[in-house]
Amino acid sequence: MKRKTVYVCTECGDDTPKWAGKCPACGAWNTLVEQVVDDAPARKAAVSPARARVSPLREIHEQEESRFSTGLSELDRVLGGGAVRGSLVLVAGAPGIGKSTLLLQICRFLGEKSRVLYVTGEESERQIKLRADRLGVQSGDILLLAETDLEAVSAAVDETKPDVLIIDSIQTMYDPELNSSPGSVGQVKDCTMSLMRLAKGSGITTFLIGHVNKEGAIAGPKVLEHMVDCVLYFEGEEASSHRILRAAKNRYGSTNEIGVFEMTESGLRAVDNPSELMLSGRPENVPGTCVTCLMEGSRPILAEIQALMAPTGQSNPRRHFNGVEFNRTMMLLAVLEKRAGLRTGSCDAYVNVTGGISVSEPACDLAVILAIASSYRDAVIGSRVAAVGEVGLTGELRSVTALGQRLREIARLGFTQCVVPARAKLTQIPEGLEIIRAGSVREAIRLFCQ
Ligand code: TYD
Ligand code: MG
Repeated sequence: MKRKTVYVCTECGDDTPKWAGKCPACGAWNTLVEQVVDDAPARKAAVSPARARVSPLREIHEQEESRFSTGLSELDRVLGGGAVRGSLVLVAGAPGIGKSTLLLQICRFLGEKSRVLYVTGEESERQIKLRADRLGVQSGDILLLAETDLEAVSAAVDETKPDVLIIDSIQTMYDPELNSSPGSVGQVKDCTMSLMRLAKGSGITTFLIGHVNKEGAIAGPKVLEHMVDCVLYFEGEEASSHRILRAAKNRYGSTNEIGVFEMTESGLRAVDNPSELMLSGRPENVPGTCVTCLMEGSRPILAEIQALMAPTGQSNPRRHFNGVEFNRTMMLLAVLEKRAGLRTGSCDAYVNVTGGISVSEPACDLAVILAIASSYRDAVIGSRVAAVGEVGLTGELRSVTALGQRLREIARLGFTQCVVPARAKLTQIPEGLEIIRAGSVREAIRLFCQ
């Protein structure tokens, strides 16, 4: 077989015969890496035309997509109601976030009904065993393999015929056929492709662990994301014990759902009530904070928005936002300046969403506005008050989706008042919750930040 060297872009997957500083296809800088590939004609010959089979759509049975539970309710939720048999799921996250823990933990449940093969290229069998003991994974049909050679892994899969295959991690696997080193773009891409064929061919549900680099991208080509069925990101701050699992891609379900976990002594624990976790340790009766309710998929979650407005002497005041969208928050600051008469331009502004959650919904605008105004005026918004509403450029408050569901969650957590847009339609008001209607930003600020 003839070999040649090409340079592959880690962003778009395009290849060129010559190295360049900038990818000619997508324009990204410094993303071309060397890769050795078989010559195209040789590859063409490998696919025999007799293999292709066309089936009429009506004859394809839908029950082929059968789901099973992983035993962790939050993981099932993110996967769209359980794992799909024969699917390829990539679990990506920063080192030490708990990816190995998550996947070893599901072995406890899966091992009872099916055969699981856990391939580790990072730790020794003994290390995995120690962790398994800590997590209470003892019984069940769980097989361990400490191996990085993909051919050996394939051989082990053929021999043991597992129902579930876990690869920890894809960056440590290598195909001896290629002469690039493990973790390189070519290897990661090639190994994923081989594992995909294995998964689809024999109906093995495969979980791949992938490391994320400093920029937050999965190390290796972006094309990896195109190859797998689901991409789950495991996020969280190392200092805090809670972790959020988010789907970036899901061929079998929505990508709106999130899973919330807490890292404990004995592994990850699914958090059924994320609102309580997000609000735990909340300061009471201090200025600069307001609670809102966001929708993560079908689930309402309360979040606390904090703001700090500090007078600045600089002509270019600081803007530091965490967990909220930068441009949206800049817009809200401008609305406050222009429509509510707050001199935000003479203040440094810091906005933060506690609990490591990020807010991208316009429904949270009002709470951001109130937190900022509260800090600016040094006026306390009561600790039992929440706010939901979108803010428009004229300072008007606009209605939001799923308001009833949000209000129920707000009432459930013991809030007594909620500010909503004046024209919001409400069919049912939860018991114990007083609804306060405000037509504009100015009015809401007058009611709560005087
Ligand atoms: P790990 O799953 O090894 O992370 P990753 O595979 O993503 O690199 O998790 C590592 C962290 O999790 C480590 O800092 C210790 C912590 N941990 C617990 O707090 N409790 C536990 O039961 C386990 C197994 C790990
Ligand atoms: Mg690990």
